[in-house]
This record gives sequence, C-alpha cells and structure tokens, in this order.
Amino acid sequence: MDDGEFLDKLRAALGEGGVTADPADLEPWLTDWRGRVTGNALALVSPRNAGEVQAVVRLAAAAGIPIVPQGGNTGMVAGGVPRPGDRAIVLSLRKMNAIRGIDAGDNSLVAEAGVILSEVHRAAEEVGRRFPLSLAAKGSATIGGLVSTNAGGTQVLRFGPMRSLILGIEAVLPDGSLFEGLSSLRKDNRGYDLRQLLAGAEGTLGIVTAASLKLVPAAPHRIVAWLGLGSAYDALSGLRALEGAVGDAVESFELVPANALALVLKHIPDTRAPLRSDHDWHVLVEMRTSGDVAMLRTIAETALATLLEDGLIADAAIAESEAQAEAFWKLRETISEAERIDGTGAKHDVSVPVSAMPGFIESTAPQVEAEFPGCRVIAFGHLGDGNVHFNVQPPKDAAPGWVAETGVLVSRFVHDRVREVGGSLSAEHGIGQLKLEEFARLAEPARLAAMRSIKHALDPKGIMNPGKLVPLANPGENS
Ligand code: FAD
Ligand code: MLT
Ligand code: ZN
Repeated sequence: MDDGEFLDKLRAALGEGGVTADPADLEPWLTDWRGRVTGNALALVSPRNAGEVQAVVRLAAAAGIPIVPQGGNTGMVAGGVPRPGDRAIVLSLRKMNAIRGIDAGDNSLVAEAGVILSEVHRAAEEVGRRFPLSLAAKGSATIGGLVSTNAGGTQVLRFGPMRSLILGIEAVLPDGSLFEGLSSLRKDNRGYDLRQLLAGAEGTLGIVTAASLKLVPAAPHRIVAWLGLGSAYDALSGLRALEGAVGDAVESFELVPANALALVLKHIPDTRAPLRSDHDWHVLVEMRTSGDVAMLRTIAETALATLLEDGLIADAAIAESEAQAEAFWKLRETISEAERIDGTGAKHDVSVPVSAMPGFIESTAPQVEAEFPGCRVIAFGHLGDGNVHFNVQPPKDAAPGWVAETGVLVSRFVHDRVREVGGSLSAEHGIGQLKLEEFARLAEPARLAAMRSIKHALDPKGIMNPGKLVPLANPGENS
C-alpha cells in the first residue's frame, strides 16, 4: 500500500476531519515541549472513540506504518513526537476527552485518554473527592500520557505515582483488538497485570483509550510553607522531623536551590522572593487535612519552630492566604519554564535511595562543575521521593550545539554517578527518544532482554512507537 492509498483509507475510516497531512497543520505536533526533537510524519490522525482507534491501528498494521500516540505533548523525553525521517502517523487522543463516569461510592472515575489532568481534578472536586496526582503541566497533560509515562509529580510522597492510582485500563493493542480492562476492582489476581504493563509503556505496547482512576477524600484545607535552609541534608532531616509531628498530612516536600529560584525570579513575570533573606536551599512544603485546619496549623507551627531551634531550617513563611499559597507554588512549578527560557541544558531525571539523595547532590554537583568548567548544576524537585531533576546548564558562552555534543558527555558522567549509588536514570519522565542510548548503555542485560521479548510478543510488527523506550538489540540502531 503506498502512502496516498493509506491516507485515503484512514480518511474513509475517520472522515476528512480526522486526518490531516497538510505540513502547516502537522507542524505543531512534530516538536517536543523542550524543543529538543523535530520529527517527520505522514499525517496527524485524530480518532473520536476507541472503535476509530481500532480502525487506525488495523490499517497501520496492514500497511506497516508506525503509530506515535500523542496526548498533551508535555513529555520531557520526546516520546510523543516522531523521529526525524520517520514515515509514521501521529495519533492524537485529544478528541477523546469525555469523563465517562464518577462513582463516589467506589471512589473511582473513568476518563478517556484525552482528558486533561486539571479536568479530572475539577470533576473529582465536584463530588467531594480528589485525584491526588499533580504536576506543573496539569493544564495540558492528558490521562493517556500520564498513564503511559507513569507520571510522578508533587504528591508522590503520600500517594505514589500514576501506577498506584490506576484501577483499570482500556487500550487498543497492536493487532487492533480492544483490551476492555476498565474495572474498578481493588483486588484482581488474574495473573499478569496488563494494566500495569501498559502503564509506563510510553505507547510501545498499545494505545490507552481510557483509564479508571482511584479517588481519595477531598482534604480541602491546606497549609503551605516556604522554608529557607543551608543544605539538602538539613532538608531531608527536616522532612523526617515534620512527618514525625504531623504524620502523613505532609503531601509535598519540594527542594528548590537558590539558583533555580533566581532563574524563576529572572524569567517568570509576577514572581517575588518568598523570604526576606537569601538561602542556599529552599523547600516548599504542603500539608493537607479534611479535619481541623487550625489544629494542623498549630502543630505545623510548633514543628517548624523546633526545626528553627535545632538549626535545621534558617527561616520559614507559612502562607496566610490561598493567593500566597498559589504564589509559593508558582515559584516551584515554573522552574522548568524558566530553565527553558534561559536555554536548553542537559536534563537528568534521577532517583537514588531517599537517604542517599543529599549526599548525591552535594558530591556530584561539584564534580560535574569541575569536570565541565562553566556549567551550573540546578538540582530541584521531589526530595522526599529520592528524585531530583539534576539539570546542568551550559556555560554562558556555549556554542549552539552544546547539548548534542558536550551535553551528551555530561549526561554520561551524571548517569555513571547515579549507577554507582544504585539509582535510576529515569525516575518519572520515562525513556522516550532522549534517554534511549543511555538506557541501552546502562540497563542490566536481563532487563533489556525481557523488555524486548514483551515488546515482540505484543507488537511483532513493531508499529507501536518504535525507537522509544525499548532499545534495539544493536545499539548503533538506537540513534
Ligand atoms: P505526551 O507528551 O503527549 O506523551 C508522553 C508519552 O506517552 C509518549 O511516549 C506518548 O507516545 C505516550 N502516550 C501519550 N498518550 C498515549 C496514549 N493514549 N496511549 C499510549 N501512549 C500514549 N512529569 C512527571 O512525571 N512529574 C512532573 O512533576 C512533571 N512536571 C512537568 C512540568 C512541566 C512544566 C512539563 C512541561 C512537563 C512535566 N512532566 C512531569 C512531564 C509530563 O507532563 C508528563 O510526562 C505527562 O505524563 C505527559 O502527558 P502528555 O499527555 O503531555 O503526554
Ligand atoms: C518538575 O518536577 O517540575 C518536572 O518533572 C519538570 C522538570 O523536570 O522540568
Ligand atoms: Zn518532576
């Protein structure tokens, strides 16, 4: 089947409005959020329901044309865009944006793949519940993308990543069959867990069309505080002390170094320093309750006063209003945007055992800056999960090709240090295109062999998002 014939068949299945091959219409769908990769595609295909997704998959399988699923295109590793030179279709799930149902008695919600995360938050709130996963891209990231990357975010500390919040999945498999796994069962031991296999698969095993998600009680009252402190070690000790005082009310504990805060204040409008004095490190902490917020505040104030007395923190401000709480969160959530404006660096989404993270940051940052003169490490994020974004900004006078040349060496250096402490080169963003070579270089042979076997068993024609997540057996073929 030639390309023209293939596109005609897609149009016949989806109607004219479901397929576009116009280069101007295609353009916004071909480049990832960070602007690292611009790929090529034959067409953008936008099905409206699972039946249309099945039709597209069957046609693509018959023609041997790869499918690149895309949700909000906020992914950090270029998993949702095609590769340069690809003869593929981009399959957008954004038209599949219905919330199929909410069951407050079951504490569950069924959302189609294209539903935006903030819509899920809103729908859960309407029935006095909440969906406890949040991240800065909540206004664009979709349920299909969040499931397929097993996204983390800023509430993992208490509720775990996306995988721990998925009750069921509906997906179109590479042969065009529909896996109807949208159950809201809390317990189901029928062998292999296909739902968890599809979660985090980055579209390489099938196309998620809907998910059944776990809700929790609303906990509408929050205490948000901004802390100034001297080291990442003190931050982790502070977290453990705070947990001792207020228990699992601590939902977010986000580490922000002085240089990340400075970038935000420089590049993001309507932001201002949260504390009067400067500190090397900061933490944004959020505690939530559905009970007595005045009591939680008293306990939190007492705990923070003890941290001040013990010298673990140097200063603290508790938000006095929702507006101030939002202002604190804006400082944290716009770090990626500020980095993007400042210029692309080498990004590392690493995890190590939680207790090892302060030592990892404080030893690896000076090593990187000594090995690569002029570079600056910006290590921020989810300290309580043992996950920071250990990003390396290029020297001020770096040439335009820095990321592709020196940046690659920087990444190898950082990932080697991560491996030495038993960590992972992808804590929450996935592998996509950008981490593929490093994953192939560092992964255990048994892990790679098992992943290749699973991929081949479910997708023998290799049409599902090839060149993402699963390294080929011959390493030279990955780039
Ligand atoms: P896309 O980017 O469109 O796709 C991501 C991957 O999923 C691709 O491989 C794609 O092919 C696949 N995919 C998408 N939809 C489907 C589907 N229906 N079926 C099968 N495969 C599919 N991530 C975190 O984990 N934690 C954070 O704190 C965080 N913060 C972020 C902050 C900002 C400002 C930005 C821009 C991104 C952030 N991210 C974070 C990354 C990103 O938001 C998540 O990876 C998110 O899950 C991607 O959702 P998406 O809909 O944009 O997916
Ligand atoms: C974050 O925690 O802000 C995100 O994962 C985005 C990023 O790493 O830039
Ligand atoms: Zn993150």
